[in-house]
Amino acid sequence: MKNVLVTGGAGFIGSNFIQYILDQQKDILLLNLDLLTYAGNLENLRAVENNPRYHFVKGDIRNRTLVNQLFDEYHFDTVVHFAAESHVDRSITEPEIFLSTNVLGTQVLLDAAKVHWNLEPDNKYCREYRPGVRYLQVSTDEVYGALGKTGMFTEETSLSPNSPYSASKASADLLVRAYYKTYGLPINITRCSNNYGSYQFPEKLIPLMIHNAQNNIPLPVYGDGMQIRDWLHVKDHCAAIHTVLEKGVLGEIYNIGGNNEKANLEIVKLILSQLNQSEELITHVKDRPGHDRRYAIDNIKITTQLGWKPAYTFEQGIHETIQWYLDNTEWVSRITTGDYQNYYDQMYGTNK
Ligand code: NAD
Ligand code: TYD
Repeated sequence: MKNVLVTGGAGFIGSNFIQYILDQQKDILLLNLDLLTYAGNLENLRAVENNPRYHFVKGDIRNRTLVNQLFDEYHFDTVVHFAAESHVDRSITEPEIFLSTNVLGTQVLLDAAKVHWNLEPDNKYCREYRPGVRYLQVSTDEVYGALGKTGMFTEETSLSPNSPYSASKASADLLVRAYYKTYGLPINITRCSNNYGSYQFPEKLIPLMIHNAQNNIPLPVYGDGMQIRDWLHVKDHCAAIHTVLEKGVLGEIYNIGGNNEKANLEIVKLILSQLNQSEELITHVKDRPGHDRRYAIDNIKITTQLGWKPAYTFEQGIHETIQWYLDNTEWVSRITTGDYQNYYDQMYGTNK
């Protein structure tokens, strides 16, 4: 890994990954291609913006000309594809952009990798690639759909996505798989559970609840709040991706999860308690349509075959995360005073 293309590096996980990988690997040149949608924020990358090993290009992964130019110029050997529309609630009201970015954007990157890395790009039978190249698709456990009270998602679980977001991510995964099967493109797919940590956009459960609790705004819990997610600290996700880049068997899918199932209501109460706020702020609102009841990841493959395991306990991670949001209220308020307010009003009404 020498010349790395990271897409979506100004978002939550991408920006954590860039800081992590530049710190871990002193010999790489990293280019961050990000469109800076509402979710992209260059403030997340202050710590690396003057690092000569870090370059940024504002642009769209769907722009074939640009993507091919960047491959020509930078001779990437590694692609880590984070860029996506990532919020389930937005996908319910505006599915089209999810298909466009998450599916067609992925296809542009796969095509560029194939053309630039294949030793005979004009020969459709050629399955030989430059040594050491790898394309990593960052995906989600949501592609598997929802679980009942028991069971876990393994890499063999059939894909059964329920939201436009997860359907678009599953579609992209299938394309990546097809490029491996048809063209032999050296790929991996990682499917991670819900992440939490610093720089997460405050439309997602944990930062939204911290923000509301801090500001005495009601905490909107969907339905009964007993939906379960398997939470993983974002830095553990970054370390898992790094492990797959170094040791993953080409063509393989790896689930990433922390064995840390929590009901939403439990998390909301924990945040309120840590902020010394009353549970009276909890407001049960109408449930999300098609709301997945439970996710749980079986992480046996990545832990036993590649030796990765999470470093954070949830207690430590959530404590640090809440503290990060308390210490970075300006970062949050620069977001919440912009377009976010319109989104919030549309999503939850003016009853804040
Ligand atoms: P995010 O919404 O915080 O960031 C997405 C980034 O992609 C933003 O910087 C945005 O500007 C950029 N982007 C969007 N469209 C683009 C385009 N057309 N061209 C270039 N850049 C574009 O998302 P996140 O939470 O950091 O998630 C990153 C990836 O990880 C996504 O692929 C998501 O599906 C996956 N994932 C997320 C989670 C989670 O809990 N957040 C869990 C598992 C997997
Ligand atoms: P979210 O952070 O949107 O992640 P995902 O839907 O990808 O799992 O939501 C996490 C859980 O929290 C999910 O079950 C929906 C629930 N939720 C609420 O109850 N209220 C909210 O305001 C939000 C944003 C989420």
